[in-house]
This record gives sequence, structure tokens and C-alpha cells, in this order.
Amino acid sequence: MKPEEVKKISLGHYPTPLERMERLEKRLQKGPLYIKREDLSEMGLGGNKVRKLEYLVQEAKEQGCSVLLTYGGPQTNHGRLTVAAAVRMGMKAVLILDGDRPKRMSGNLILDGLMGADLRFVGDADLEGLSIEEYRVRYAQKVEAMTRAVIQEYEDRGEKVYVIPVGGSNERGALGYIQMIPELMEQMKNKGLDQATLVCGAGSMGTFAGLWLGAAYYHAPIRVVGISINPQTDFTAEAVCEYIQSVSRTYEMGVTCSPGDLSIYFYTKKTPYAGAGYNVPDADTLSYIQMMAETEAIFLDPCYTGKVFHGYADLLRRGEIPAEGAILLHTGGIPGLWADEHVSAMQEMLGGCQDTAMDRLHRMLSDMKKEQQELTAQLEDMRAKQQDRTYRFKEKMGQKLMNGQVYAKLRAYGLMDEDRES
Ligand SMILES: Cc1ncc(COP(=O)(O)O)c(C=O)c1O
Repeated sequence: MKPEEVKKISLGHYPTPLERMERLEKRLQKGPLYIKREDLSEMGLGGNKVRKLEYLVQEAKEQGCSVLLTYGGPQTNHGRLTVAAAVRMGMKAVLILDGDRPKRMSGNLILDGLMGADLRFVGDADLEGLSIEEYRVRYAQKVEAMTRAVIQEYEDRGEKVYVIPVGGSNERGALGYIQMIPELMEQMKNKGLDQATLVCGAGSMGTFAGLWLGAAYYHAPIRVVGISINPQTDFTAEAVCEYIQSVSRTYEMGVTCSPGDLSIYFYTKKTPYAGAGYNVPDADTLSYIQMMAETEAIFLDPCYTGKVFHGYADLLRRGEIPAEGAILLHTGGIPGLWADEHVSAMQEMLGGCQDTAMDRLHRMLSDMKKEQQELTAQLEDMRAKQQDRTYRFKEKMGQKLMNGQVYAKLRAYGLMDEDRES
């Protein structure tokens, strides 16, 4: 079956607007610049996952399912929109989320809760002290076991569960963005644009892969450029190519690709758009969120679109993408602005009135996360190089050292008495 023959349900308001950003043009001294407002797709406050869900939920309905189950970080936008789709279709929704249930709900979690989602947290306290490789394996096993248990629980109540992968990024989910291409081509024609560079976020890759494949399939004069939003991503251009080829085979599209055909900007020193980490606040991304808000009164989010706009503006400045017909894909995610970690990070920038213990705690955790990521990268590097006894001894000493640093941090942020050690 070809993409255009696959059925979908209607969840969003389409076409989403393609708007000119004239004030931003003045600020960047480039133009004409455009933004495609996928954040205005309406359902559940909108975003890119709505197009994917139109195809996925159609299949869930065809299979007689009554529950949608999906995965993500606690602030997953994909999770929020899956819950919204379930509500609109009279279904139930379960989100299996990373980490522990937070003491305070914020951002997307509040919206998930208001819509009545069943939230399950995987938790990882029992995996402390494992090596990164072991941790990954054991964590995946925990997620799998929780999925089986939840499915069983719902089946015992007479329900049928439809499982959606992270980000809705499988063959079927990619159809949503393959099929955005004809919509965009029509809008380009109406605006007199002969060619375009479409800059989008690249997380679980469904959006990028769908757009790239759609542009090739429909012979669109559109170059798709992806900006990776996670400096620690496991994705490579090769893996994205395999995904693209698999979608192409599934829907008889006859499109092939090789890694060199893809323009994805992964995190490097020269292209640091992915910031400090996945959903970790960073000053660069915030400054781009602020630039867009100041010039266009359009809000971006700190986990995805703020980073993508950083890449968009920088690539324009460096002349790596032409200004003529540069389109930023706004994929939504705005509720993330009100996630606790980002609210705390913005206090200083916006002259917040207090520096509460909660703000300091978030700042400390965010700083520690960054430091931990750096240490983890160094450790991985060392592990690869030396696997001998001396190294294992050093690792033990390192752990002790790190404990000492944590106590020092707690004291520096006023979260532990000077004379206490535990
Ligand atoms: C707001 C937002 N933008 C971009 C993306 C990335 O899309 P994809 O996962 O399809 O690469 C996501 C994924 O969750 C998202 O929530």
C-alpha cells in the first residue's frame, strides 16, 4: 500500500499556517524567513506528534484496541499528545515514564494528569552502581517487564492495549510527515517560493525521516535539515538511513538513501545546538527562545524547538543554508517551558524575586547532571581504553571522590550544614 492510500483519523487542524517572520528577518539581517506552525495543530496544545498519531490511532482502532500505551521522559510531549488522542477517541492512555514519580507535578505532567492518564514510573534506584552498559540492559528489561504487567492488568479488565514506540517513530508514524510534504508544497506555491530548506528537530527521528522521504517521494524542491536535540543521542546517519529505507519498503515508495544524502547536525563543538543534555536547561538555548519571543511573540520550548532555532539561526549566519525559503518547523513542546527544571533556570534571566531552596536544589541537580554527563563520557572513554585492575581501583577511588564532591555541592548551595557529612 502507498502512503496516500493508508487511512488515518482526523485529530489535528490542518493545514497548519506557514508564516513569514519579518521582524526576525530584521534581527538576523536575512530573509525571507518562514515558520511552519505545527505547534498550532490544536489537539492537546498541538505539536508534531499529532500527525503521527492520526495514522497510529487509526491502526489501534482497526485492531479493536481500547487503550493507548507509550513511553518517554517525564516531560514527553509525545506522551501528552497520545493521552489527548485517547481522550478524543474515547480510549484510555497509559504512559510508562523514565525515573521516579516527581514530588511536584509540572509542565506536561500536569496536562497528562488533568486528562486522566495512567502514569507509571520505571524508577532506577535499584540499578545504582551498575556500569553504563549493564544499566542500559537492565533498564530496558525493567521497561519490558512493566509493559507486560500493564498490558496484563488491562487485559484482565477486558481492555485491549495498542503499544506506540517512543516518539511514535515507527514505519506507520513516519507517514504523518511524509504526508505533510504535499501540504507544504501547496503553501510554497501560494507564497511564490520555488525552493525551500526545511529545518526540523531530530529526536526519535520520525519527523526528519518522514519529511526527508516525503520530499524524495513527491519530488519536492525541499531540502530537509535535521538538528539533533540530544548531545548523547544513540542515533547515527546510518541508523536513520535504515529507518528511512524500511519505511520506503513498507509503503512501496521506491526511495533509497545513503548516509551521505542526509543533512543532520549532530552535537559537535562547532555545532553545539543540542545544548547541555536531553531536557537540561542551558543558557544558549534560552537566549534563542528569548530572541524568538522578542521578535515574533512566538514561544519555543527548551527541550526541542529552542535548540532547533539555535541551529537554524547559526546555519543561516554561516551561510550553510540559504536565507531564501528557509523554513523553521515549529514542532510544539511549549508546556515544557513550565517544567520545574526550566522554570527554575529562568528565574535568574527574568529577575525572579526569590532564590528558594527548591530553585537552588534544581540548579544544583541540573549542574550535577551536566557534570555527571561529562564524567560519564570520560568514564566510557576510559573503559574502552583500559579494562585492567588498575583502572577498576581508580574507579573505586573516583566514586569516593565523587561522594565528597556531592557533599561539597550540597553545602555550597546551602542544602547541607557545614559540619554534616550525611
Ligand atoms: C516538541 C518536539 N519537537 C521535536 C521532536 C522530535 O521529533 P522526533 O521524535 O520525531 O524526531 C519532539 C519529540 O518528542 C518534540 O516533542
